[in-house]
Amino acid sequence: MPSFIGAIDNGTTSSRFLIFDENGNLVIGHQLEYRQIFPHPGWVEQDPMDILGSVLTCIEGALRKFELQGNNAKNLRGIGITNQRETAVVWDKTTGLPLHNAIVWSDTRTQGVVRQLCESSEKGADALKDICGLPLTTYFSAVKLRWLLENSPEVKEAHDNGNLMFGTVDSWLIYNLTGGKEGGVHVTDVTNASRTMLMDIKNLKWSDECLEFFGINADILPEIKPSSTLLGKIQHPDLESLQDVPIAGCLGDQHAALVGQHCFQVGEAKNTYGTGCFMLFNTGTEITPSNNGLLTTVGYQFEGEPAAYALEGSIAVAGSAVKWLRDNMGIIREAEEINDLAAHVDSNGGVVFVTAFSGLFAPYWRPDVRGCILGISQHTTKHHLARATLEATCFQTRAILDAMNADSGYALKTLRVDGGLSNSDICMQLQSNILGLEVSRPQMRESTALGAATAAGVHLGIGIWKGGFKAFAERACEAKEVLQIFTPQINDEEREKEYGLWQDAIDKSLSWSK
Ligand code: G3P
Repeated sequence: MPSFIGAIDNGTTSSRFLIFDENGNLVIGHQLEYRQIFPHPGWVEQDPMDILGSVLTCIEGALRKFELQGNNAKNLRGIGITNQRETAVVWDKTTGLPLHNAIVWSDTRTQGVVRQLCESSEKGADALKDICGLPLTTYFSAVKLRWLLENSPEVKEAHDNGNLMFGTVDSWLIYNLTGGKEGGVHVTDVTNASRTMLMDIKNLKWSDECLEFFGINADILPEIKPSSTLLGKIQHPDLESLQDVPIAGCLGDQHAALVGQHCFQVGEAKNTYGTGCFMLFNTGTEITPSNNGLLTTVGYQFEGEPAAYALEGSIAVAGSAVKWLRDNMGIIREAEEINDLAAHVDSNGGVVFVTAFSGLFAPYWRPDVRGCILGISQHTTKHHLARATLEATCFQTRAILDAMNADSGYALKTLRVDGGLSNSDICMQLQSNILGLEVSRPQMRESTALGAATAAGVHLGIGIWKGGFKAFAERACEAKEVLQIFTPQINDEEREKEYGLWQDAIDKSLSWSK
């Protein structure tokens, strides 16, 4: 009987459910965009019920197609979950219902909370960095939870009465998929927990010091589990054919992509171009602190193995800038049109676009900054703007790569890429030019979902994932994958000149925002 693994992938703007066979081949999937709520400038919310609904619709849609192919849902042996990280969800223990919209990772409403918290510690933004690996910024979940406690009386009351449940999106989904208020499990994995600012990344437990710092009660938190283990079993009225199927893998989406790209050795890195763009560099079992604006995070943890750590460079805006060209500016009708527009010209015509819609993340960390477009002339067309939009992510990736090389003491030779924008040949060529590095793109670019399926497959000992993590990682490192390689097509002088313009544009937007 053939075996299959399903992967639930909840990204920032869409959910999908993908099914992999026991050789790790993608068989079928279903994807759905869901509602984004922007109540005020800088605020980004999602209805947790929309998130759950979109996941259920994707599972049903994919299973329908799967069965039409002649397969049987009963052969789905396990499920892995991967998700947008840091997005904070709060719900009522008694009713199982959300007490507030989810506050999304890119939301910057917490600038005041961050300012106050920084002032409360001699170490300022680094108050908890030694414990959780992260600086105080608007990005992480505990800051959003603090805001909810200060601004939502319902959340505060439930917190004080022991009736609140908090989690990142993985916890919310697992709770609901395993029975909700009728006994659903309240768990998370080490990678998602490492994005809250509440976990001690050394012992992988909730930190009393961090909880006290934010004024948060420990009883609202999920139990922390490895990324590859039994997290719960499906118990949901809408998923009859999947009753009791084990959820055996769970990772934040960027960590899942690290696994899906098989970056298991120290010094291997991947860059995922989704709504945002995130570079993770495997530092092995060593915790490497950053002195250059990167984050220290848990890469993944397979059951019975020590955690692998990573340095991360986070870019808040990547694919969302393409959406902005489509939805706000009306310059394109479909996201893919950006490629033809950008290819219409052979340079940006002097236009540089700092896409700081949610402030600037790594390595700058300035939530107050807003975007700017510089270098416009009578000659400027939508083609130059399209090119400058793609280049924005590539330039910020360059700033992150420089920080990564400085922090790790290792010069990266190849960058593995995946995610939506990595499908764009022109964007990947620009990336290679701007980095002066080989950019290597796998044939199957659903690395995030594959990572979640891998975590589940390793725990369940299925197909190519048999024999435990070490054996699988060894085989994966030896396997010769077919990759498409982009190599730099400009010289160092041109590269540094272009990058110099980006640095000038960053300086201008930093000073304008002051
Ligand atoms: O940290 C936020 C990140 O997890 C979001 O990922 O793929 O939706 O851009 P993505």
